[in-house]
Amino acid sequence: MSGQVLDTPLTRLTGVRHPVVQTGMGWVAGPRLVSAVANAGGLGILASATMTLDQLAHAIHEVKDRTGAPFGVNLRADAADAGDRIGLLIKEGVRVASFALAPKQELIGRLKDAGVVVIPSVGARRHAEKVAAWGADAVLVQGGEGGGHTGPVATTLLLPQVVDAVGIPVIAAGGFFDGRGLAAALCYGAAGVAMGTRFLLTSDSSVPDAVKQVYLGTAETVVTRQVDGMPHRVLRSDLVDVLERSGRIGGLARALRNAAAFKKVSGMSWRAMVSDGRAMRHGRDLSWSQVLMAANTPMLLKAAMVDGRPDLGVMASGQVVSVIDDLPSCAGLIERIVAQAAEVIAARQSCLAGS
Ligand SMILES: Cc1cc2nc3c(=O)[nH]c(=O)nc-3n(C[C@H](O)[C@H](O)[C@H](O)COP(=O)(O)O)c2cc1C
Repeated sequence: MSGQVLDTPLTRLTGVRHPVVQTGMGWVAGPRLVSAVANAGGLGILASATMTLDQLAHAIHEVKDRTGAPFGVNLRADAADAGDRIGLLIKEGVRVASFALAPKQELIGRLKDAGVVVIPSVGARRHAEKVAAWGADAVLVQGGEGGGHTGPVATTLLLPQVVDAVGIPVIAAGGFFDGRGLAAALCYGAAGVAMGTRFLLTSDSSVPDAVKQVYLGTAETVVTRQVDGMPHRVLRSDLVDVLERSGRIGGLARALRNAAAFKKVSGMSWRAMVSDGRAMRHGRDLSWSQVLMAANTPMLLKAAMVDGRPDLGVMASGQVVSVIDDLPSCAGLIERIVAQAAEVIAARQSCLAGS
């Protein structure tokens, strides 16, 4: 574990040693990766959208068996059983609840009353303002270069806007991989950085080696709406090229097949899936065909991340993949990021006139 200490509002809020977060990535951020990050002094976040409630309970126990350090769980605020999942986090004393979309004000209140730190992810300043007003403890802001669902504004522009707009700690995500990035984020006023792609590409991540090699060998990402109707940054691949060319009918047929497959792996009933779909549509401008396509994301991600079939699945990835060429352990990675950030900050102090 790095001896270097960067004390920030994030480390104080969550009780972790280093201001470095591993984000909740579906099928990727499981107990092994999360506990490796936690043991290395970072904030590891379990991805739960691809788990049933029982699987989430098992995963939380497994993390607790592997580490005594704080960790978090990423939740879908619009899941039909979000209330049960929140009850589980509270019962298990999970330190941080992270949300892929803005959670309702009551959910934030319930978690905070129980002492759980609430950190929603946002991709726009107005969403940050909204969740801050609702009582979120901190906000994770993802710029457009980030992997998975992503927005159009680059981190370098979105981050200062959000830092200026809210009075709570801001965690910067999208495009981070080294200590220079952490130092830069702190200079922008962030309380730390969060990384997805960089942690996927570690020796502790359970993604099959063959798939990690595809990431290391691919420099290009594309933003496609053909996976689930929303902008999604993924590695450029033959499959993605085919999806981009396929028409609406082919897309809906694939979505139906994937909805049936997701029903099987998730153990959900059609009734529960329809109820989840209704919750997804609520307050958003989504058609039923877009809701149906939402099942594409977990199934196409699983094909690559779990089944090891990059030819049959999509590989969510940030643009940062183009500058990553190794598979360090989480401990080695966090240590070198924090040490480099401290070095960069110390070196720049000599730029001050008279020093
Ligand atoms: C493979 C993969 C899966 C992801 N799955 C999720 C998810 O389930 N929920 C979520 O909130 N974000 C998800 N994301 C987005 C990340 O949590 C994170 O915000 C993003 O990767 C940050 O950008 P970076 O890749 O440049 O570090 C995913 C990203 C990747 C690369």
